[in-house]
Amino acid sequence: MSTAKKEYKRITVKSLIEMKKNGEKIAMLTAYDYSMAKIVDHAGIDVILVGDSASNVMAGHETTLPITLDQMIYHASSVVRAIERCLVLVDLPFGTYQGNSRKALESAIKIMKESGAHAVKLEGGAEISESISRILTAGIPVMGHLGLTPQSIYKFGTYTVRAKEEEEAEKLKKDAKLLEELGCFGLVLEKVPAALAKEVAESISIPVIGIGAGNGVDGQVLVIHDMLGMTHEFNPRFLRRYLDLYTEMNSAFKQYIDDVKSRDFPSDKEQY
Ligand code: KIV
Repeated sequence: MSTAKKEYKRITVKSLIEMKKNGEKIAMLTAYDYSMAKIVDHAGIDVILVGDSASNVMAGHETTLPITLDQMIYHASSVVRAIERCLVLVDLPFGTYQGNSRKALESAIKIMKESGAHAVKLEGGAEISESISRILTAGIPVMGHLGLTPQSIYKFGTYTVRAKEEEEAEKLKKDAKLLEELGCFGLVLEKVPAALAKEVAESISIPVIGIGAGNGVDGQVLVIHDMLGMTHEFNPRFLRRYLDLYTEMNSAFKQYIDDVKSRDFPSDKEQY
């Protein structure tokens, strides 16, 4: 059963803002390659985020810091080739926008030109406002990202819940307002208390998409490898697993190995 309030042939940034107005929740997942993006798009997802979490789940790095602009473009263009309906949002990777708005604009333009994606996402608030403004002046839609911002992991020291203290919560609220005023079309809130996330979502007109931010926001995002149960060693409280693919794939691979070694595969019917 579809719970969509309105059917969209193509999701745009305007559709997402309209969904918030209509009280329709926005469903977002990450994807990094053609085959996965095709399945996710056909299932009816609203937004595919080509997240810099590719650095972790695709490349095996401990953090999101090492992934490069060209690697993000490779992933994003593979996703864009697969989709027919959803909006494709791409993370600007670490080091391509902080502290230099001209470089930020060049990075965003390169992503848009070379991948064919529809929007970019940047982590941070007031400290990157110049970069956001400059990208927006080029007509490129920008989504913000506050709360736990993994590109700043060495500043935070841990991946624990952010903005539990008054001072950080106040800054986050101010930053969310600022992102709205600058012209961002949406905002990701990662790992913050649910009450704070709800307050932020109710105080701004642009959609707030949560990950570990409770149910009072305008939509949800999960990393696809986590929700499919491929990263079985990663168990944060906010994660709902929809499959146990690690176990399923492991037994399929074991079965294949057995079939090959026992000469069961290929059978007479599986050859020419
Ligand atoms: O890179 C990513 O996957 C993200 C999500 C966790 C929001 O930024």
